Amino acid sequence: SPSDPDLVERARAAKEKLGDKVFVLGHHYQRDEVIQFADVTGDSFKLARDAAARPEAEYIVFCGVHFMAESADILTTDDQKVVLPDLAAGCSMADMATAEQVAECWDVLTEAGIAEQVVPVSYMNSSADIKAFTGKHGGTICTSSNAKRALDWAFEQGEKVLFLPDQHLGRNTAVREMGMTLEDCVLYNPHKPNGGLTVEELRAAKMILWRGHCSVHGRFSLDSVNDVRERIPGVNVLVHPECKHEVVAAADYVGSTEYIIKTLEAAPAGSKWAIGTELNLVRRVANAHPDKEIVFLDKTVCFCSTMNRIDLPHLVWALESLAEGNLVNRIQVDRETESFAKLALERMLALP
Ligand code: 13P
Ligand code: SF4
Repeated sequence: SPSDPDLVERARAAKEKLGDKVFVLGHHYQRDEVIQFADVTGDSFKLARDAAARPEAEYIVFCGVHFMAESADILTTDDQKVVLPDLAAGCSMADMATAEQVAECWDVLTEAGIAEQVVPVSYMNSSADIKAFTGKHGGTICTSSNAKRALDWAFEQGEKVLFLPDQHLGRNTAVREMGMTLEDCVLYNPHKPNGGLTVEELRAAKMILWRGHCSVHGRFSLDSVNDVRERIPGVNVLVHPECKHEVVAAADYVGSTEYIIKTLEAAPAGSKWAIGTELNLVRRVANAHPDKEIVFLDKTVCFCSTMNRIDLPHLVWALESLAEGNLVNRIQVDRETESFAKLALERMLALP
């Protein structure tokens, strides 16, 4: 829907008043009405780096979800304040791994006698607590754009990886890019005793995948791929690695949101594409490339409801509050958590 002109003007005025004091980051899944005010846009890896590269901005307004704002707080200086325009913008995947559950899992691995061989690799889409656990146990963070490099690094440090919390990114990377088999992966279910696994299964596994997933990408199925291939002959299927393994296996291209955008930019005029990721992004790239046929992979619409919580009214409220000197919706990670989480994030930023 077109943005309310009054709100657009208010956002512009507040941003102008704040000047260099504010830096607005926008994830690719954000609404158009919000993205128009982003100083930079990106996938979660790029935004983490961009946040860290702005030490002069007093306020970082993060148009994205909670775990991204936490990561920005961890990577910025103590004087910088990170603001999330709507505190209800969480991530259901990140919520699937709590600190208690992960500590319990580590006990299970310890009892099975394998904890010393295990290196945790946590997807960016996790709480600061999980990132701190990862840093404490010698592991790294990864995003959808560097998961293979993170796993390569982890398997230089140890024999097994505990991959949190997205089973699909873990499985897809291991099988598609690392030469592992589905049998090398086991699924740890935090709601079952011992994760629902036997000691033998844990000892035999190379990848211990946490049973988490993205509800948005989980909606794409093999049928969605087969249907679109039938409907649009010659279509290229391009999906995000948070999709299920069977979807990724049937796709032609797989990559992060930034990769999806770059691939479509480079695609020849007249080419046909079906995209398996969040709808705001798919619509935006389709509008940006009218010379290419770009469709959404599934027939049913698929926004990320929590990403969509950041809308223009919330952004205006946050910017106007900051312009009036009221610090609202600050995301602040406590120091102890921050120090260990930073270790894990810095390992990621240092990956080759
Ligand atoms: P990327 O932006 O890293 O591709 O991640 C997608 C996502 O689900 C963010 O929540
Ligand atoms: Fe979380 Fe999925 Fe939304 Fe990304 S798209 S924020 S992983 S629920």
